[in-house]
Amino acid sequence: MVGYAFMGAAHSQAWRTVNRVFDLPARASMVAVCGRDGAKVAEAARRLGWAEAVTDWRELIARDDIDVIDVCTPGDSHAEIAIAALEAGKHVLCEKPLANTVDEARAMVEAAVKARTLGVRSACGFNYRRVPAVTLMHDLIAAGRLGAIRHVRAVYLQDWIVDPSFPLVWRLQQERAGSGALGDIGAHIIDLTQFVTGQRITGVAGLTETFIKERPLPESSTGLSASAGVATGEVTVDDAALFIARLDGGAVATYEATRFATGRKNGLRVEINGEYGSLAFDLERLNELEYYDATRPAAEQGWSRILVTEGEHPYFGAWWPPGHIIGYEHSFTHEMRDFIEAVATGADPTPSFEDALQVQLVLDAVQKSDSSSWVSVAA
Ligand SMILES: NC(=O)c1ccc[n+]([C@@H]2O[C@H](COP(=O)([O-])OP(=O)(O)OC[C@H]3O[C@@H](n4cnc5c(N)ncnc54)[C@H](O)[C@@H]3O)[C@@H](O)[C@H]2O)c1
Repeated sequence: MVGYAFMGAAHSQAWRTVNRVFDLPARASMVAVCGRDGAKVAEAARRLGWAEAVTDWRELIARDDIDVIDVCTPGDSHAEIAIAALEAGKHVLCEKPLANTVDEARAMVEAAVKARTLGVRSACGFNYRRVPAVTLMHDLIAAGRLGAIRHVRAVYLQDWIVDPSFPLVWRLQQERAGSGALGDIGAHIIDLTQFVTGQRITGVAGLTETFIKERPLPESSTGLSASAGVATGEVTVDDAALFIARLDGGAVATYEATRFATGRKNGLRVEINGEYGSLAFDLERLNELEYYDATRPAAEQGWSRILVTEGEHPYFGAWWPPGHIIGYEHSFTHEMRDFIEAVATGADPTPSFEDALQVQLVLDAVQKSDSSSWVSVAA
């Protein structure tokens, strides 16, 4: 694994747990973790359960006893690490968004396609697909329970940079993150809505805004927390991104991604309206799926809440008895479960690099459309 902070910790938790919960055809062995600071990565290896710590990811790729490279670094290093790993015959799991640009994502797909011909697999870490309620949403829509999909409504709302004195961490720098709220959290709802509906976005019109244009440079930072220094720098990404879209199955959609929704911590909500009913999911109540079944007699219709904790529900049978709920980190355990199973059985894990390139194309289209179709309202 490369990178050991926020996602590094979440992935480590999943690699530690996956074979204890799921019966799989291969076992994950946590061979080595990479970070740039020797002392810090050694401490992380001890804390997170990795046997060894190294300071150059190329060392991991050169080793014969490593089969999988898990990329948990910011977007500016995804392409270089993933392509080198695939060329060296290592299976790659890469965090989202796949890359910082469409060109990088295309190069990664090219490497993945070549590697696949040699049995080398790759996938991108859109973990919310693996929340049981989201997988159930996908399964119900795929089974035709909503009929034709008309509306898709998706928001991903956070508030961790509302304070103008919050430092200019890598997520606020275009050269490190590619984009702001758009690629960081908007990418999740793009992937999630395309996954559950089985439809792809064909066009967008977007609007982005940067509310705080200058911030103190960070003295130190990890994950979503940081301490501020004295010097300041320019924010070069969007703070908020909104867009409308059309999907290839005929649905229309609205998307909203912001880190300025004061009071919303990790508010991902998706609602899908179809001809026979509707489904809604809210990450802050992730064990539940809301369902409106319009095929029931009129007198019995109404929103129902499915508690997605039955043995029959996706992934849940391996965990606890019904009603004994799971949380955020389980989506990563499910991601590793599906990745290991695919690699061990010679199948391609999902979402593929091609799927993630398609998300990147949507991000790019939103940025290109920004303001270009804007019509001012007369004073
Ligand atoms: N799936 C999700 O829900 C989710 C959530 C958060 C972040 N992410 C993604 O995960 C990735 C990492 O984000 P994070 O929040 O963990 O960031 P982070 O800042 O918490 O951690 C980044 C880690 O990468 C290390 N790193 C950076 N450059 C490196 C290099 N060249 N070689 C070795 N290590 C290097 C840093 O030292 C740090 O350990 C990003 O692509 C981000 O978009 C995904």
